[in-house]
Amino acid sequence: MLMLCKMPRAGVFRENFIFGRFEMNLLEVRNICKTYGSGETAVNALKNVSFSVSKGEFVAIVGESGSGKTTLLNMLGALDTPTSGKVLIDGKDTFSMKERELTVFRRRNIGFIFQSFNLIPELTVEQNMVFPVLLDYQKPNERHMEELLEALKLKERRRHLPSQLSGGQQQRVAIGRALMTRPSLILADEPTGNLDSQNSSEVIAMLKEASKKYEQTIIMITHNRGIAQTADRVLQVSDGVLVDLGRCGE
Ligand SMILES: Nc1ncnc2c1ncn2[C@@H]1O[C@H](COP(=O)(O)OP(=O)(O)OP(=O)(O)O)[C@@H](O)[C@H]1O
Ligand SMILES: [Mg+2]
Repeated sequence: MLMLCKMPRAGVFRENFIFGRFEMNLLEVRNICKTYGSGETAVNALKNVSFSVSKGEFVAIVGESGSGKTTLLNMLGALDTPTSGKVLIDGKDTFSMKERELTVFRRRNIGFIFQSFNLIPELTVEQNMVFPVLLDYQKPNERHMEELLEALKLKERRRHLPSQLSGGQQQRVAIGRALMTRPSLILADEPTGNLDSQNSSEVIAMLKEASKKYEQTIIMITHNRGIAQTADRVLQVSDGVLVDLGRCGE
């Protein structure tokens, strides 16, 4: 199965190699292969995937169900390890880090937003948002919290529990939680999958607005054509192979 991982594509390196030095991308993915299982049941979920993303870029990942999108996002966030290949975030090779170092790195640099919001039911909106900051033994930035509550239109709901919120509001809390640590990279797996179209566009607009302010990079899996059209770049995954579709504006 490793046969699929051929030599690095020279172009990927050449395009970033300007005047004898590497242009620093926020994210560099080099020749990632992921095989689940072995023998007859082996699934080659990612086949030699390479791409880079610059700071502040908003990238949409599209592709059919089972094509490898979540597998790819899990590799980018170092939630799972590839069979071969490298991921560099801000020049740091995530898979060469020790577990403890990686946990801290992930907490400080990456914000995750999942389709199922993964909020803690016993905690209020504010407590959910501040949770990753406390996990990192940091002091929460009150002003940042107020700004986020304002931008995400959650001020009136700050002391509510997730069960007392609508789906759209819960997703906005999940976004607030991802942004609270001011991560340089935001990874989102179909963040609007459970929302109606009105709520989807609102949530995306807020996410973009909030992330623009801090020049955060967003990589978002989406089945929503409208959202992909607003991205700076669209990457398509087809049966584990990645194709850069460029900008897909109207
Ligand atoms: N833990 C696993 N063990 C074995 N195979 C897996 C595992 N996780 C994913 N796969 C397989 O890898 C392939 C890619 O799965 P992945 O979840 O990345 O797809 P996806 O593009 O995110 O699909 P969807 O749009 O339905 O969420 C699929 O064929 C899936 O069956
Ligand atoms: Mg998926």
